[in-house]
Amino acid sequence: MMKHPKTLSRLDGKTVIVTGASDGIGVETARYLADLGATLVLPARNAAKADAVREDLVRTTGNKNITVMPLDLASLASVRSFVESFTAAHKTLDVLVLNAGVSPTQRALTVDGFETTMGVNHFAHFALTLGLLPLLRAAGRARVVVVSSKLHLRGDIRFDDMTYEKSFGSMMSGPYPDSKLANALFAVELAKRLEGTGVSVNYLHPGVVSTALARDMNAVVRWFAKTFFITPEKGAQTSAYVAASPDVEGVSGKYFDECREAKPSPKVNDTALRARLWELSEKLTNVRFEA
Ligand SMILES: NC(=O)c1ccc[n+]([C@@H]2O[C@H](COP(=O)([O-])OP(=O)(O)OC[C@H]3O[C@@H](n4cnc5c(N)ncnc54)[C@H](OP(=O)(O)O)[C@@H]3O)[C@@H](O)[C@H]2O)c1
Repeated sequence: MMKHPKTLSRLDGKTVIVTGASDGIGVETARYLADLGATLVLPARNAAKADAVREDLVRTTGNKNITVMPLDLASLASVRSFVESFTAAHKTLDVLVLNAGVSPTQRALTVDGFETTMGVNHFAHFALTLGLLPLLRAAGRARVVVVSSKLHLRGDIRFDDMTYEKSFGSMMSGPYPDSKLANALFAVELAKRLEGTGVSVNYLHPGVVSTALARDMNAVVRWFAKTFFITPEKGAQTSAYVAASPDVEGVSGKYFDECREAKPSPKVNDTALRARLWELSEKLTNVRFEA
């Protein structure tokens, strides 16, 4: 069994999706959940890379119930086709970990016209979660785990410049922290909308983790990250905790850091801001929440 600072529940017979499990924190999150016996589905844009991770997870955990399925979060058509294929193959979904993320240093648009960071980190995960909601509800008790970041505290939702044409900023003040605030606002709003359904939604900061997320940063930043940041295994511990700890049973709409509840940005309590982002997300993704 893998070492974890907290007691986690077994996940035998539970179906679990982890997005972004082909690299970094997602690989180690998937490893923890595979080690707990979950039936894992790993959506990935790079099949060969994800297949190699799958083989490594099978070898290290002995769990063979791991499948890779195609999903490019930079395309809403790909999100739709993933939801269709997953729904054709599974009746329920017990845990959905929204972990994939990008932090590009150059502005680019997705095929749907989203700024890439907001498109991948927020809008695609919004569409994916709403598409999978019938299966989450069908599971009886299910968990949605949203990997945000402490940087959500620096985020803002730029309704007047959603494609970052006027100003792109940096990792500390551009679409990346904004997308992580969008993750937090989405998690809290979804938790409210799902009260009483058995589906809980929580969000978290994984720590400052040495991964390829900083791949586009300069060499000094990358050296600093490699030398001082925590390992991806440690970075996966809060995700695994929120996904599988009995302590989190029935807890919803909360923010976690280092495997305990933490204080999020006061912006998450702004109901008008949450509602405005939700309406915009429904409009731009063309996916609606069914109460
Ligand atoms: N690292 C940190 O210090 C830190 C701190 C706070 C929060 N976080 C959050 O933690 C999460 C994981 O980050 P990480 O550091 O592990 O990053 P990473 O090592 O760069 O991994 C990102 C993952 O997302 C996937 N991904 C990116 N774009 C995608 C797309 N268009 N479609 C499908 N999958 C896509 C990547 O797939 P490929 O393998 O194909 O590239 C990879 O599996 C992110 O949400 C990030 O915001 C990280």
